[in-house]
Amino acid sequence: MDRYLKIALAKGRIALQAFGLFESIGIDCSSMREETRKLIVRDPASMVEFILVKPKDVAKYVEQGAVDMGVVGKDTLLEQQPDLYEVLDLGIGKCRMVVAGTGESREHLDMAVKVVATKYPVTAQKYFSGIRQSIRVVELDGSVELAPIVGLSHLIVDLVETGRTLKENGLVILDEICPVSARLVVNRVSLKMENERITRVIKALRQTLGRAVQL
Ligand code: PRP
Repeated sequence: MDRYLKIALAKGRIALQAFGLFESIGIDCSSMREETRKLIVRDPASMVEFILVKPKDVAKYVEQGAVDMGVVGKDTLLEQQPDLYEVLDLGIGKCRMVVAGTGESREHLDMAVKVVATKYPVTAQKYFSGIRQSIRVVELDGSVELAPIVGLSHLIVDLVETGRTLKENGLVILDEICPVSARLVVNRVSLKMENERITRVIKALRQTLGRAVQL
C-alpha cells in the first residue's frame, strides 16, 4: 500500500460533516480541521489524502482521475452528469431543489415562455421540458432569490435548506424538483485498480450510515 487513496471534498460545511464520517471509519482528519490554507492534507496512518476544492469542481477531479473518490452534492451531479460511479448517499448536506417565486409567480407558471434564474441551467431546463413548458434561463452565480424581486426573472430554480432565504425575501416554493444530499463518488478506473481499498471505505461508511451500497 505505497500509494495514497485520494479523496476530493468540497470546501466548507460539507467538508466538516464529511470529516466526521471519515473519522468514524478510522481516518484521521484532525489536521483538516485546523485553521489552515492547505489544500492537500494527508493521514499517513490510513494512507488517505484529502484535497479541498470548490463544490462545482469535485466531480471534475474524480472524472479525470486526479483523485480516486469525492464527496459531491446530488445537485451538482444532476447538473454536470459526470462520467463516474455514484456509490453512496452520505445523508449529509440535505436540502431540496425547488421552483420558487413571488406571490404573483403562480400566474407566470402559465405563461408561454417564462424567465427562470438559476445556478442550475440543465436541471431547470430538464424540469420545465418535463412538464412541457418553455423557459429562458438566466444563469446566475448566487443570490438567485434576488432575480424575481428586481424583475430579472419570473421564477427561480434553487436549493432550499431551512427556507429562511426564501422567507426573508418574500418568496414561496411553487414546486419541488428533487431532494438533494451529498454523495460518495468514485472514478471508474480507480474502482478497478484500487477495488479492495475503495470497497473497504464504502463498506465502512455504509455500516456507519446503516444503509446499502448502491453500486
Ligand atoms: C444556498 C441556496 C439558497 C440558500 C438556501 O445559497 O442557493 O440561496 O443557500 O438556504 P436556506 O433555505 O437555509 O435559507 P448559498 O448559501 O450557497 O449562497 P449563494 O446564494 O451564493 O448560492
